[in-house]
Amino acid sequence: MKRIKVSLARRSDRSYEIIIGRDILERACMLVSQRGCSRRMVVIADSNVAGLHGEACVALMCRLGMPAELITFPAGEASKTIDMVLSVSTELLERKVDRSATLVALGGGVTGDLVGFVASIYMRSIPFIQIPTSLIAQVDSSIGGKTGVDFKGGKNLLGSFYQPKDVIIDISWLDTLPEKEFKNGLAEVVKYGIIDDADLFETLEWEASALLERSPGILERVVERCCAIKKGIVEIDEYDLGIRRILNFGHTIGHALEGVSDYRINHGTAVSIGMVAEARIAEKKGCLDRRERERIEALLDSLGLERTIPVDMDTNELLSRIGLDKKRRGGKVPFVLIKKIGVSFINGSVDENLVKETIEELKV
Ligand code: GLY
Repeated sequence: MKRIKVSLARRSDRSYEIIIGRDILERACMLVSQRGCSRRMVVIADSNVAGLHGEACVALMCRLGMPAELITFPAGEASKTIDMVLSVSTELLERKVDRSATLVALGGGVTGDLVGFVASIYMRSIPFIQIPTSLIAQVDSSIGGKTGVDFKGGKNLLGSFYQPKDVIIDISWLDTLPEKEFKNGLAEVVKYGIIDDADLFETLEWEASALLERSPGILERVVERCCAIKKGIVEIDEYDLGIRRILNFGHTIGHALEGVSDYRINHGTAVSIGMVAEARIAEKKGCLDRRERERIEALLDSLGLERTIPVDMDTNELLSRIGLDKKRRGGKVPFVLIKKIGVSFINGSVDENLVKETIEELKV
């Protein structure tokens, strides 16, 4: 079991630990309990995760002397709405949950974002713990305090920065994760190597098959490394005003692909294609060497991740989603670009024609 401290400089009372390991839930809950989080635990999970892990989690907490109960909501991105925030809050009120309780977000990214948002506003905020069960939530969304719901067709348009009290990452949850969900998370894992850690990237190149087989050793090493990178970035830029934006590598074009496809292209696939496109843009701008760009594409390929854009996808619609349409002054939008694998930067001057040409080239 590894423990990584997230130290938030200005208000140290908000610092918290990411507890990582295999089959660690019991030990991690004991730690949480020792810190006094044990008066009342309200575990909130979607309808899929509740059946798989929810009851067991509640039973474990009760056994450890932490009175716990379970609230469920329907699984899927469609639940990431303000209506669901109100519905969960109503349930909390009906159960007379007050600020002495702790909410537990048990599940993937949707659960973490939704429960985190409820926790940030319910009775002017209530403590919460993240127990992420998907790869994407374990390496990304459970860390760093971004919470929120979708609104008026836009992702995360209502939300807050609200840090959890602890993040408990049990790698064994990944054993039962559906293939599609696992791949979704792998795209974010590759992203960390590209933006910040050439050694991680090399490990992924060497260990691609082991990773795809979910071999425990490599999986633990990789998840732990990604968490350490993310915590380092969040400590410097908690409120996403500067360096934290490098976490958006692949996401500028990725989010547009998700939106234009009406979310038929899932997040990991979109980010994978987005990373290919944005690496090509970096190469075209003379920042990135061709061989480095080819290594990125080869790694994504060996992990079975998508690299091409569907031929029938409307390029102008994509440009418009990216913000590179005629409405935007100067036709420029900030992109995360890379100098080499492991070194990224934010560039505010990518030309519309360069993006257009890259999109067209990826339609094969
Ligand atoms: N998922 C990107 C961030 O936390 O900033």
